[in-house]
Amino acid sequence: MIRERLLDWFDSEKRSLPWRTDRDPYRILVSEMMLVQTTVAAVVPFFERFLDAFPDFASLAAANEDRVLKAWEGLGYYRRARQLHAAAKTIVVQHGGMMPDDADAVRALPGVGRYMAGAILSQAFDRPEPIVEANSRRVLARLLACTDDLTSRDAQGRLWNAAARLVPPRQAGDFNQAMMELGALVCSPRTPRCLICPLAAICEARRLGVQDQIPRATPK
Ligand code: ADE
Repeated sequence: MIRERLLDWFDSEKRSLPWRTDRDPYRILVSEMMLVQTTVAAVVPFFERFLDAFPDFASLAAANEDRVLKAWEGLGYYRRARQLHAAAKTIVVQHGGMMPDDADAVRALPGVGRYMAGAILSQAFDRPEPIVEANSRRVLARLLACTDDLTSRDAQGRLWNAAARLVPPRQAGDFNQAMMELGALVCSPRTPRCLICPLAAICEARRLGVQDQIPRATPK
């Protein structure tokens, strides 16, 4: 029920972004690698240009590293570009040029951690795998009224458990993207717009009136 409200909200309010047009695992991997530590607005033009230069795993795997780094120029954090390049080569050499849909094989790809694996498996294959990223972390923390330091191991464990409990058996990809989008557009850091939030009814922070105190400021 509450998940449907979130999915309906996502359907009507989501930003139209170039990696949301289909379920192509290549586009999903490239976008997620670019979105690590970079905002959606900054990524969009780079994403389009990168896809023009390297439209699929095969073309990226075959490319010279200098060309790949050149296409990445401006995004920074070049380690991600090298990992993406390495992942494309692994996919071509070990998986016949297709993203594997096996969770262990996805997790074994270069540069693919827990978040990235969840994003790929849910968005490309609709597997009910959870994600926790910067925006959805704030949503989850507020749903749980978690006033702890969110970087602590204990809090991280609780956030991942909550994400795993919430992710639906179907439409997991849309659900995960909706949680990120809700954090970006509604459940904002300073002034969350609880009055229009599709999850307000199950939000413990809102019930207690502590949404402004979450996430807790980490001591410098
Ligand atoms: N941040 C990381 N992945 C994202 C996605 N798929 N959509 C929007 N923001 C994101």
